[in-house]
Amino acid sequence: MAKSKIFTCSACGSTFSKWSGRCEVCGEWNTIVEEAPLSTGPSSKSLGGKRGTSLQLSDLATVEAPPSRTTSGIGELDRVLGGGLVPASAILVGGDPGIGKSTVLLQAAARFAQTGLKTVYISGEEASAQVRMRAQRLGLSDAPVKLATETNLRDIVTTLEAERPDLAIIDSVQTMWADTVDSAPGSVSQVRAAAHELTTFAKRRGISVILVGHVTKEGQIAGPRVVEHMVDTVLYFEGERGHQFRILRSVKNRFGPADEIGVFEMTGRGLEEVTNPSALFLSERGQPSAGSVVFAGIEGTRPVLVELQALVAPTPHAQPRRTVVGWDGGRLAMILAVLEARCGIPFTGLDVYLNVAGGLKISEPAADLAVAAALLSAREDAALPADTVVFGEISLSGALRPAPQTENRLKEAQKLGFSHATVPERSSGSVPRGFAVSRVSDLAAFVGDMFGAG
Ligand code: TYD
Ligand code: MG
Repeated sequence: MAKSKIFTCSACGSTFSKWSGRCEVCGEWNTIVEEAPLSTGPSSKSLGGKRGTSLQLSDLATVEAPPSRTTSGIGELDRVLGGGLVPASAILVGGDPGIGKSTVLLQAAARFAQTGLKTVYISGEEASAQVRMRAQRLGLSDAPVKLATETNLRDIVTTLEAERPDLAIIDSVQTMWADTVDSAPGSVSQVRAAAHELTTFAKRRGISVILVGHVTKEGQIAGPRVVEHMVDTVLYFEGERGHQFRILRSVKNRFGPADEIGVFEMTGRGLEEVTNPSALFLSERGQPSAGSVVFAGIEGTRPVLVELQALVAPTPHAQPRRTVVGWDGGRLAMILAVLEARCGIPFTGLDVYLNVAGGLKISEPAADLAVAAALLSAREDAALPADTVVFGEISLSGALRPAPQTENRLKEAQKLGFSHATVPERSSGSVPRGFAVSRVSDLAAFVGDMFGAG
């Protein structure tokens, strides 16, 4: 009997029995490709309850020691990992090509090797000479990292089996191919097979495996999202190529908090950690200007101050533009609507641009009030006082909701030389000495306070 063909969407990983021009699941065009079917084994018989061995079941109360963690000494990396590297775990590091994944992982490999972990770095993209040259430039040539260039998964697993390292770095999962899978490297089934093979190897042998994955334009790991489900930890390396800041963000972590960020700076000697990101994000701020507002945010477990910049100008188009960098466009539309409906301040006929300075991406709702302040300041062409930070969530009624960790935000603001904050009325937590706080109940009151009623 001929095997039936299967078709897979290379954007979202959904499978179909026939080809079509557009994926029904994610809506992408021209992403459906034919794949060799995965072996499903004999399908007619059920597994039955006789032939397996029965499992040892245990109580939830069984005492489990916390996993032993190894720290690299790169504080920003260790925090994003949840406090260090855990044995028997698989980590995916995703990011745009050229953003610095190979650089940061070579640096991490060297540091982990220096702390005593047996470390293997396998490159499927670059020749050994290239990796060695990079190591030389980074001053890491002496680190006891074992290097190989290979793309054949079988050879890699054989090597790892023989070497038994504590940490293996695979750069990148898209270049690996298994000879058991009948399709080209980089295809959905190959990436899936490679990720599966390497994560199960990590669990079986108790080693840590770091997989590098490239990201497509749409911001997903090229090929299947299924890789994200297979691994324990997913880190994304973000940043604008034109900026020197790079942000390592944990979007999933089975061994620590998700949404933690580590901030790095790309220098001539590789990536250097930035231990005080607020100072970095505010470093380019000049004199107070209309449209600029400092938001006191929380990223993961740490407060971070960042400048929001808005520009509001009469539009030459029939349809005014709404352009956002570093924040959610839907959320901006919502705030514009609330300003119009609850405060009578329309933005019709005006183009609106919003930018988060420094290339950071913010997802906290607490940025709402800072965004509203930036929009109003730009619209009225009136700068806010230079010593003020703003935060708070705006609801559709125009009421303001307190943000978590008010105290930490205020402390960070004071540390960076600010002396005043505008916050929602019901915010709890104590206020640092010498720091002034204005509490406002709703958006209309905020507008009145800041820009004079009307
Ligand atoms: P790389 O780590 O190769 O990116 P990826 O593996 O994510 O594709 O980073 C390449 C970029 O980093 C390249 O454009 C040059 C820059 N870079 C520096 O600025 N300084 C350095 O010390 C190194 C090693 C790279
Ligand atoms: Mg690379």
